[in-house]
Amino acid sequence: MNRIKTYSICFVGIFICCGFAVIQHKEVLFDYPEYWPKPAYDFSKLSMTEEEFQLGRHLFYDPILSRDNTISCASCHLQATGFTHVDHDLSHGIDGNIGTRNSMTLMNLAWSTSFMWDGGVNHIEVQALAPITSEDEMDNSLEAIVEKLNASEKYKTLFYRVHNDSVVTGQKTLLALTQFVVMLNSYNSKYDKYIRNEAGGEFTAQEKNGLELFRTNCASCHKEPLFTSQDFKNIGLAVDTTLNDFGRMGITANKSDSLKFKVPTLRNIQFTSPYMHDGRFETLQEVLQHYTTGIQQSNTLAPELKNDILLTPNERVDLLVFLRTLSDTDFLFNKRFNYPNNY
Ligand code: HEC
Ligand code: HEC
Repeated sequence: MNRIKTYSICFVGIFICCGFAVIQHKEVLFDYPEYWPKPAYDFSKLSMTEEEFQLGRHLFYDPILSRDNTISCASCHLQATGFTHVDHDLSHGIDGNIGTRNSMTLMNLAWSTSFMWDGGVNHIEVQALAPITSEDEMDNSLEAIVEKLNASEKYKTLFYRVHNDSVVTGQKTLLALTQFVVMLNSYNSKYDKYIRNEAGGEFTAQEKNGLELFRTNCASCHKEPLFTSQDFKNIGLAVDTTLNDFGRMGITANKSDSLKFKVPTLRNIQFTSPYMHDGRFETLQEVLQHYTTGIQQSNTLAPELKNDILLTPNERVDLLVFLRTLSDTDFLFNKRFNYPNNY
């Protein structure tokens, strides 16, 4: 296990001394398996403590961040479905408004170098501003949030525990949200146990065959062990003429980026339906149907998809069986990541 210390002083608990509270912080460790690459996120600039992680967790689950106190980050990012919005093709936000894209899973984000389906956000510490200010999501402003949080006894206490100062600022709020989402790591699936030769990781012949098929046909983009290359690719989906979403080109204005979208991770894919940037496919069978018979040709299509992928019916089943080994119930039901009851 690799381990990054995110805080150098390690004390536990709160001590009351001479009438004022001296807060002593407990460090939080960022763990990941040895066979993984180094995270892209620069942890040397981060002083993360347990108190800060818990503050981020409270903020993530609190509808106080939206204009009318109805929508929290967790409204569209539910833990049990890999922190995405199950059953919603396009995301559903404030006033019942429907957005233009499918909510993304949140996991192993410390390895991402750009965020959103089109990579429109290049630093995780400012990412939260996008949903907060989007008219279809939370329709709020950082100033209004700071005002609400400063009027809340709960948040004054939580911010005090982190900063020895109860004054809430926008920067501290965004940092706390980052410190929660950056800790959402998934690395205990059956696949991981298989790679680590651990108990519970014995693959059946079908799973082994599925892994081989995956490595031949899919892993150039859904690269192990994170199951994403972090790249942008056009996989030949037909353009939805109501949404007219050309993906990465909307950010770079470069024609060569037309119809390219971020390669999503396939970890916990069994639970994150519907699939693709616009949630057009309900099932993994439909996804395979696309890769085997549905690819639309265009100038920016990924070269490895110029020809449909050939898979027999049995091979499709094996591939689907393999994809289920990417499910990590330790992550989906990890109590540290769920709704916080008290503070
Ligand atoms: C109304 C639904 C909704 C709400 C509320 C929402 N999100 Fe999202 N989230 C989305 C959608 C949709 C995307 C993809 C957006 C895009 O590509 O344009 C996304 C993308 C993301 C990503 C990028 C993931 C990646 O791999 O690139 C992060 C991180 C994220 N959201 C965190 C948050 C946080 C933190 C909050 C609360 C401050 C939040 N979201 C609130 C729907 C929502
Ligand atoms: C050329 C790169 C590339 C290859 C090869 C590739 N994918 Fe993808 N995959 C992507 C991209 C990019 C997306 C997102 C596309 C979008 O939403 O527009 C995606 C989306 C998916 C999704 C939906 C994920 C989600 O969260 O919505 C699944 C499932 C998937 N791919 C499985 C596979 C399988 C199985 C194979 C092999 C048969 C494969 N992919 C081959 C790039 C690739």
